[in-house]
Amino acid sequence: MSAKVVVVGSLNMDLVARAQRLPRAGETLPGDSFFTVPGGKGANQAVAVARLGGSVAMIGNVGDDAYGQQLRQALHVEGVDCGAIETCPGVSSGVALITVDASSQNCIVIIAGGNGLLTPQSVQRFDALLQAAEIIICQLEVPAETVAWTLARGHELGKQVILNPAPATGPLPADWFAHIDYLTPNESEAEALSGVAVTDQDSARRAGERLLQLGAGKVIITLGAQGALLVTAQGHRHFPAPVVQPLDTTAAGDTFIGGFAAGLVRGLEEGEAIAFGQRAAALSVTRAGAQPSIPYLAELAP
Ligand code: RIB
Repeated sequence: MSAKVVVVGSLNMDLVARAQRLPRAGETLPGDSFFTVPGGKGANQAVAVARLGGSVAMIGNVGDDAYGQQLRQALHVEGVDCGAIETCPGVSSGVALITVDASSQNCIVIIAGGNGLLTPQSVQRFDALLQAAEIIICQLEVPAETVAWTLARGHELGKQVILNPAPATGPLPADWFAHIDYLTPNESEAEALSGVAVTDQDSARRAGERLLQLGAGKVIITLGAQGALLVTAQGHRHFPAPVVQPLDTTAAGDTFIGGFAAGLVRGLEEGEAIAFGQRAAALSVTRAGAQPSIPYLAELAP
């Protein structure tokens, strides 16, 4: 059966240290615990789609190391179609060095490894997957030209194209916007993309309206505990976040996006799919790690 969702993006092994607080520059800090778990924004989103009821294929790269085998296996056991995950000889897999503090905030350093070698040609080899999909999801942990090509191809094929602009350090190329149906930044990404400082619903609305002016189809800005804001040409709608006690916010955004996409392909209307993604993300922040924190459909109340 062809996958209804295709994720084009990164796979990382996450090396996670927990400490009471994040270290300052030049500081050595004793931590509380360490663990290694599969992550990467692309892979997390693919796992979220699979666990939350959608069929999904992933296009991406791993290195020819033990992490690469583990990353591929982690997706395979969840039912993600891994036939388009290629192994790059002589290159390490992507790695993320993550520190999580006692208040559940994190900081992340990423080494791209094989993710950095995902070219437009690599994606083009799996064009049949794109053709068969309903939704194509990209993030920004693979080369920009590959994201650009995939967005354009998805749009040309008439698919629903979602760009999670993470991590974002500045504005997106102007010619990307017309190819994006849903742009899904968090607060800091919305600010980097729009130039509007996002602190609350009102500033998020202004940032979203700016991103619509630039050409995005619709914008969903995730605001953590403040919920999410959908901004469209017709207006805006706020979705409050379920109240939870957060332990680790790593992959919360990925879980939201995977849940949103899984909801859409399962036939939920847009607002229902956003609320579904939020419920999944809320559960994920009560658990540690990236992929281990992503819930299964059966865990979510109807
Ligand atoms: O979004 C969370 C992810 O960001 C982590 O799993 C890490 O790999 C980084 O890519």
